[in-house]
Amino acid sequence: MDLPGVSNAEELQIRLRRYDYLADEGLATAIFLALRLSRPLFLEGEAGVGKTEVAKVLSRLLDTPLIRLQCYEGIDVYQAVYEWDYARQLLHIRTAEALGAGEDRERFEAELYSREFLIARPLLQALEHRGPQPPVLLIDEVDRADDEFEAFLLEILSDYSVTIPEVGTIEAGRPPVVVITSNRTREVHDALKRRCLYFWIEHPSFEREVEIVRLRVPGAGEKLARQVAAAVQELRRMDLYKPPGVAETLDWTEALVALDAKELNEQLVEATLGSVVKYREDQQRVRAPGIEKLLSRVNGGGWGRADT
Ligand SMILES: Nc1ncnc2c1ncn2[C@@H]1O[C@H](COP(=O)(O)OP(=O)(O)OP(=O)(O)O)[C@@H](O)[C@H]1O
Ligand SMILES: [Mg+2]
Repeated sequence: MDLPGVSNAEELQIRLRRYDYLADEGLATAIFLALRLSRPLFLEGEAGVGKTEVAKVLSRLLDTPLIRLQCYEGIDVYQAVYEWDYARQLLHIRTAEALGAGEDRERFEAELYSREFLIARPLLQALEHRGPQPPVLLIDEVDRADDEFEAFLLEILSDYSVTIPEVGTIEAGRPPVVVITSNRTREVHDALKRRCLYFWIEHPSFEREVEIVRLRVPGAGEKLARQVAAAVQELRRMDLYKPPGVAETLDWTEALVALDAKELNEQLVEATLGSVVKYREDQQRVRAPGIEKLLSRVNGGGWGRADT
């Protein structure tokens, strides 16, 4: 699909920024191509690097609904596509009995298994959506679902239609804008990846992270933003069990702003460490050499103009 006023990746990058998402050139290009070629976008990366947010920002930018399918172990067609509304079917049967209708058994059954008695789950909602723009369909954390479900997704993504035995085939008017994310707890099959454009989202660079903080936590001053971003970059070098993502950077900054902090000091870091490092072993690893060590690297580690 085409976006009015956006004819290349650079213009899309500017547009994304206007909607509060800072993408680097590579990611902006991947999103641009996914839209232009109407291909699903497959995003992988560490926790909290902004994968899910890509779908959210696209829905804001395209002014179209975000339909989200959260994957988990054991997810199946009934949670993803459709389910019969048993309660309504039962009520319908009772009403028919009371009215003495339902004589024509065959017709009555056909009625019971018609579209009217289906509950649309996210994939069906996305296919049935009718509007000026196709919706954004977010298939989040696909690595949590099992192989079988993946094969099923592949089918849906090949022709954007689904066949329900009792009802028939339901086809999308226009293919939805599809964003698939994975935390890579397991490899997703090549066949599914082949359908998609693939992009690995890295942790942002120091400068970009400062910008993200300024954009998302306007209450944070320049100095605090730079120190927090520098500290997070340092933490990511520490070989932690769970290195902080952008989500943690933002949480941390918000906590610091809530405490009225203008700049980092030992006491503040100590008090707020739990909003950025969330495993006890990781916290020990940060505390062992001393918080002041971390701060000296933040302030003296060549992280831009951390002291201005
Ligand atoms: N480039 C960015 N620009 C603006 N905000 C960002 C960016 N990257 C991440 N964020 C913010 O960081 C937070 C985490 O992002 P998101 O939830 O998309 O991460 P994720 O990669 O989906 O993480 P997870 O793997 O844990 O689901 C969100 O609040 C998001 O708005
Ligand atoms: Mg996510």
